[in-house]
Amino acid sequence: MRGIILAGGTGSRLFPLTKVTNKHLLPVYNQPMIYYPIRALLDAGIDELLIVTGGNNAGDFLRLLGSGREFGSIHLNYTYQEGEGGIADALRLAEHFADGEKICVILGDNIIDGSIRAAADDFRNQDHGARLLLKEVHDAERFGVAEMQDGRIIGIEEKPSNPKSPYAVTGIYFYDNSVFDKIKTLKPSKRNELEITDVNNGYIAEGSLTYSFLDGWWTDAGTFESLARANRLVAAKHGLILDQEPGIKL
Ligand code: DAU
Repeated sequence: MRGIILAGGTGSRLFPLTKVTNKHLLPVYNQPMIYYPIRALLDAGIDELLIVTGGNNAGDFLRLLGSGREFGSIHLNYTYQEGEGGIADALRLAEHFADGEKICVILGDNIIDGSIRAAADDFRNQDHGARLLLKEVHDAERFGVAEMQDGRIIGIEEKPSNPKSPYAVTGIYFYDNSVFDKIKTLKPSKRNELEITDVNNGYIAEGSLTYSFLDGWWTDAGTFESLARANRLVAAKHGLILDQEPGIKL
């Protein structure tokens, strides 16, 4: 299975932090954001990786990561998304790299506490289709949200104002190679993007979507609030409790 990290887009919700750098190069505690999805994939035994990036600072990924040598045994590839046509538009660029194999896609601003190894193994054993990782959240309206019936996902809505469940679709997706044909049938959404939620609904329509729940905490880091949360969660993992500054009343 090959791994794809989507790190395009302009990061406009983090402006001016993203004025002179790419969102996925911003620090999350002691590492650049992009390190976390790289390590999540490596931990799942996926070491052939493609980074899809874009914008004005794409060259900084090469300067930071180079061949990926610091991560050990890893085959790192890069490609460039013109504009910001959406997550599915960025994924489209990975067809050649995937070369007919199954893929694991991670959004470059998704940070996890635990491991996706078990889910990756389940998908290796899954004959065809797709597999999603869900997480129960209190602010489901910010995400793609799964509608459940009898233990199955029967539909996904992108940022619904009245979510039908508390289960967010995290930005970690397993797909078979038919994902690229599905992307070719998509039409731009109201926000003028090719939506990954439409891809996932395509798998639901053909009855080949499975899921599991993600263990441990999960956060995105694409807004000031979620970036701050990501920093706090990773710092806490390192034993640093940021709410308790000696001598400062917070
Ligand atoms: O974080 C999980 C959520 O991510 C899912 O629940 C949603 O269904 C999914 O649509 C997505 O929602 P966001 O609106 O938060 O995605 P955002 O536009 O912030 O993009 C997330 C990452 O995808 C971003 O860090 C880089 C990559 N991306 C995004 C766009 C729009 C690209 O590589 N190219 C793009 O054009």
